[in-house]
Amino acid sequence: MEKTLINNIQSNLKGEITVPGDKSISHRAIMLGSIAYGVTEIDNFLMGEDCLATIDCFRKMGVKIENKNSKIIVEGVGLNGLKEPDGILDAKNSGTTTRIISGILAGQKFKSTITGDDSLKKRPMKRVISPLEKMGAKFLYLGEEERLPFTVQGAQLKGITYRPKVASAQVKSAILLAALYADCPTTIVEVAQSRNHSELMLEYFGAQLKHHSKTEISIRPNPRLMGQHITVSADISSAAYFMVAGLICEGSDILIKNVNINPTRAGIINVIQDMNGIISLENLRDVCNEDVADIHVKYSPDMTGTTIGGDIIPTLIDEIPVIAVLAAFAHGKTIIKDAEELKVKESNRIDTVVNGLTDMGATIKATNDGMVINGGEQLFGAKIATQKDHRIAMAFSIANLICKGSVILDDANCVSISFPGFYDLLDTLINN
Ligand code: S3P
Repeated sequence: MEKTLINNIQSNLKGEITVPGDKSISHRAIMLGSIAYGVTEIDNFLMGEDCLATIDCFRKMGVKIENKNSKIIVEGVGLNGLKEPDGILDAKNSGTTTRIISGILAGQKFKSTITGDDSLKKRPMKRVISPLEKMGAKFLYLGEEERLPFTVQGAQLKGITYRPKVASAQVKSAILLAALYADCPTTIVEVAQSRNHSELMLEYFGAQLKHHSKTEISIRPNPRLMGQHITVSADISSAAYFMVAGLICEGSDILIKNVNINPTRAGIINVIQDMNGIISLENLRDVCNEDVADIHVKYSPDMTGTTIGGDIIPTLIDEIPVIAVLAAFAHGKTIIKDAEELKVKESNRIDTVVNGLTDMGATIKATNDGMVINGGEQLFGAKIATQKDHRIAMAFSIANLICKGSVILDDANCVSISFPGFYDLLDTLINN
């Protein structure tokens, strides 16, 4: 549905907020809870469409998953207790569901077919298919080669050593979960460290991992995973919109509570510091093996451009659309490089970001592996083609806060993929 955003350029955003639970952790809590023995109770689960798709897939494989008094209760069936799916598994828009679940499906004694929406059917799957085939699973394509929909024929898997070409937590997690079903340990060597929630949660559930270095891990097969109580910390990728809003809107002062600041996710904090943004972390603590803090941001008129590239990219890949908005506000040049992965997200995020900000009057240029932004110019309202990409809709809702005129989103509803209630929370801060 099209939406014209409220434009209130004077708004100073003040207050204490919480954003929904982390998407990556929510997916993994359902997956590990399903293949563990006993009950897993999940607090602050993200009720976004992507994570609901994961729940639906495991229900189809015979796992009882209920929502009781705002807790998700998963009755685990054990490593070998999943049943042949009752129908096609539908991952909808969720790359994380598809890729990680493929690792589990690869180790089953049955066949399963998985599909998704039009956007997901275009996204690359070879990155998970190749290692899983090496381990012994077979894939049969119902449409285009190496794309959804496909059927996974599970098998008795072999342990392997694998070096994925891209730093991808989805690929790493698929291999780690398949490795639970293998005949000997599996080792993964990454080109740069991707988010490590799977490793932390696997250890929390009782799996045995060896961390040879930040980029090399091994895992033993056939652990007895035990159900756990998981509290999902708030998603830094969702907090990022309000961090940037607070930095760019005059007079703002926002405290975002209970945010996951796992270093493999928190690259945006380093970037904000590099750009001279006023940001601090308060109340640092550990929640279910994850680092958590309250993030405090204040209006920062003296922000400057920076260069973002190399190993930091996987730690902020989903935040790049809103970082580009921040760069358009900051004075001087920001270079984002080594981020070709943006091209294969829910939209080609190099194009969607560059086209949208160009239409708003920013000086921005696409490059092969990122973009170059010359910030500090006045932005203007424009109609934004979101390509139904939730992160594009939210990033441009934040750009709207500092532009003359209004941003019109061609599709506003897609935010419910990862952040149900996004517009209401933004309106509450604006009207405070
Ligand atoms: C995710 C990993 C990232 C990220 C995605 C969620 C995960 O993708 O962009 O939104 O939960 O593992 P890649 O692993 O493909 O980089």
